[in-house]
Amino acid sequence: MIEYNETKLTDRHRGGLAVSEDSVASWLPQRSQELRPLKLDEVNRGFDHEKWRIPLSGSFGNEISTVLGGGLVPGSLTLVGGDPGIGKSTLLLQIAAMIAKEGSDGGAPPVVYVSGEESLQQIGNRADRLGIQSNIYLYSSTDIEDILMKTHRLSPRALVVDSIQTVYLKTVVGSAGGIMQVKECTAALMRFAKTTNISVFLIGHVTKSGELAGPRVLEHIVDVVLYMEGEKYSPYRMLRAVKNRFGSTDELAVLEMSQSGLQAVSNASEMFLTQQHTDSNVLTGLAIAVIMDGTRTFLIEIQALCLSQCSVSSSVFNGIQANKANMIKCVLIKQVGLHLQENAMFLNIVSGLTMSETAGDLAIAAAICSSFLEFPIPEGTAFIGEIGLGGELRMVPRIDKRVNTLSKLGYRMCVVPKQAEKLLGNEVPEKLKVVYCNDLKEVIDAVF
Ligand code: TYD
Ligand code: MG
Repeated sequence: MIEYNETKLTDRHRGGLAVSEDSVASWLPQRSQELRPLKLDEVNRGFDHEKWRIPLSGSFGNEISTVLGGGLVPGSLTLVGGDPGIGKSTLLLQIAAMIAKEGSDGGAPPVVYVSGEESLQQIGNRADRLGIQSNIYLYSSTDIEDILMKTHRLSPRALVVDSIQTVYLKTVVGSAGGIMQVKECTAALMRFAKTTNISVFLIGHVTKSGELAGPRVLEHIVDVVLYMEGEKYSPYRMLRAVKNRFGSTDELAVLEMSQSGLQAVSNASEMFLTQQHTDSNVLTGLAIAVIMDGTRTFLIEIQALCLSQCSVSSSVFNGIQANKANMIKCVLIKQVGLHLQENAMFLNIVSGLTMSETAGDLAIAAAICSSFLEFPIPEGTAFIGEIGLGGELRMVPRIDKRVNTLSKLGYRMCVVPKQAEKLLGNEVPEKLKVVYCNDLKEVIDAVF
């Protein structure tokens, strides 16, 4: 385990911010007398950026660590947003347990979890259910000054405040949850984090319009904004970095809510697929697309149903934009010669996802062809590519990563644009047959 040198870190921050021991107790705005510009090598001298971060281990820890940009940064302020009931309190309690455990053998400081929403018994109950027995201190309070004063005395490694909507500052007008309160409390927590080098996690509920409540201005104050999302009836939860001063916002943690809390998903790429179709059970109108979310690849199933004699004349699209679906339908009519004009067409993305990436175009076209021609697509086949109005296949970003995922999952065939040949070259894994096509006609010749 990487050792965490607290004295050094504190010194570093104090050196830069010139905070005296006396002023540490005040979280209100203050002036530093010794502030001066520091030379870059003065700041970085003898400082190991990798060791600076607090590591989080285990598969769950790795997921969280990745979203944070490679571990938790001491003295950072992280806002975790999401709809009520999505699992924010559960997530933060688990993260708190992990941080408290990381250093327990080295006599590391504890973690303080403050809730203004639930009673200590409720949190204790949840911790029990999650099997948490770490060095966590629970506190129920809504007065920020009181919270920070009590927390400071314990010198914890991290502080969790659940939630920003429940806390208030006595010196600020307005009730808890109001714009001024939310803003000033966040600013006070930021000053606290920077002066003490304690990492602070802040939970924020999201309003119906999808914004972090109350004001968006919160996002500008904090260092990191993580957003937790998931479908109402699905156990899967995505934790996404929307802003990160210490890493990329391309990262995504894929978690699953179980009886015993949140867990990492081992086969995240395949989580949106239904059970494997055996050869005797292959369906027509079903094609697999490979889409990307941040740096992660996901396989998704696209279903198409074309009906020639149907009283429903219109088309129905679930999870695919109508413009996109109609465009692909018209390209298939005009450039490939499929007589889809008279057909009612249904398109559906399994798992209730919405596909916005153009890399899924080819799979949509393949699903339509499969249903219209009543020809099942062979098992273990996937499609990657954007479709142009001329029926041509166009390149999409990170095609190598998408193909690699297919190969790792044991796929046998993958149809990609011809332009990808240069990029993929000889690097294509042996067991995966990569078919390069210029346009949709070539795809139909190769697959159907
Ligand atoms: P919670 O963390 O309270 O959500 P939030 O803080 O975002 O409002 O979790 C809400 C849901 O998670 C709740 O409906 C029950 C479910 N849950 C589980 O399924 N398993 C568990 O182990 C826990 C603790 C919660
Ligand atoms: Mg909660």
